[in-house]
Amino acid sequence: MPELLTITPETIQRAAHCLRDGGLVAFPTETVYGLGANALDGRAVARIFETKGRPQFNPLIVHVSELAQVETFAHFNEQAQRLAEIFWPGPLTLVLARRAGSGLSELVSAGLPTVAIRVPSHPAARNLIAASGAPVAAPSANPSGQVSPTQAAHVAADLGSKVDMILDGGQCKAGLESTIIALTGDTPTLLRAGSLAREAIEDALGEPLSRRTHGATPQAPGMLTSHYAPRAYLRLNAEFPQPGDAFLGFGSITGQSSDKVLNLSASGNLREAAANLFSSLRELDATGARTISIAPIPEHGLGEAINDRLRRAAAPRPEPARSD
Ligand code: TXA
Ligand code: MG
Repeated sequence: MPELLTITPETIQRAAHCLRDGGLVAFPTETVYGLGANALDGRAVARIFETKGRPQFNPLIVHVSELAQVETFAHFNEQAQRLAEIFWPGPLTLVLARRAGSGLSELVSAGLPTVAIRVPSHPAARNLIAASGAPVAAPSANPSGQVSPTQAAHVAADLGSKVDMILDGGQCKAGLESTIIALTGDTPTLLRAGSLAREAIEDALGEPLSRRTHGATPQAPGMLTSHYAPRAYLRLNAEFPQPGDAFLGFGSITGQSSDKVLNLSASGNLREAAANLFSSLRELDATGARTISIAPIPEHGLGEAINDRLRRAAAPRPEPARSD
């Protein structure tokens, strides 16, 4: 099991070296922990898919440390320019036309003519990418289909010795993945709700975002119906727990009759709720409860992304939940 490494200039250099050598480094971002590999190195990228048990058709986000590097890999249009200036570095991923001869591994885009790019704001992530001298492909550092990690200990518990190094940056601030916008079609399209609220993006663009139509290709993130799933079954929009349920509250809906209770945000703050979502699901899952009931979450602002993750986590699984 790799140790959790405190972030220092020395551990950043070691991790950058590991990436250059084709290794896998788990690192903190402002959203969730990423499982990074050199995006120019096809064998390293293949290890990401193998380590996560990730379907090969599901492409990866390429992380760069500076806006200026994006042009090397993708075609930047006017809308991309505007969103990048306002929201980067930060929790926004742009799907853009991939530049021919970019040098990126084909596997990163899963054979699509597009590439997803973001500039994270977490200083350790940016320092690591800059020190590696390469673009870094990084999905969330969890086994495919399961809950994303918001602490280094989650990564160690889920992936353990399958990763070469784990940089420990404490708790991720936003706690939900980046918002993904495709700028490759006629209209800007929301592919995945995330840590940046849709409304902020629509304000910046001066037009509404289209929604991806169900079943459309490419398969984007949690576009897979069952995703972000804990072991327990989830019951959404619950006003109170059933006997034996664990309960995840929000605001004044607290599930007080259950003895396994957490509240995403007692004050009803969606930002706080987003930051607590994945760690709370993990914690309630660890109680062994068969079902986690979850209070209703409003659908506006970050609530859109929280509800998206909850619906997918609650969706029927390819295999029944383990009952051991
Ligand atoms: O916050 C985040 O976005 C985190 C951190 C580590 O940056 N990363 C993350 O990656 O959530 P991942 O792999 O768990 O989710 C990225 C999603 C994938 O589901 C994939 O389908 C979608 O982005 N994606 C990547 N490239 C795409 C492309 N060219 N077109 C459409 N969707 C794409
Ligand atoms: Mg993921």
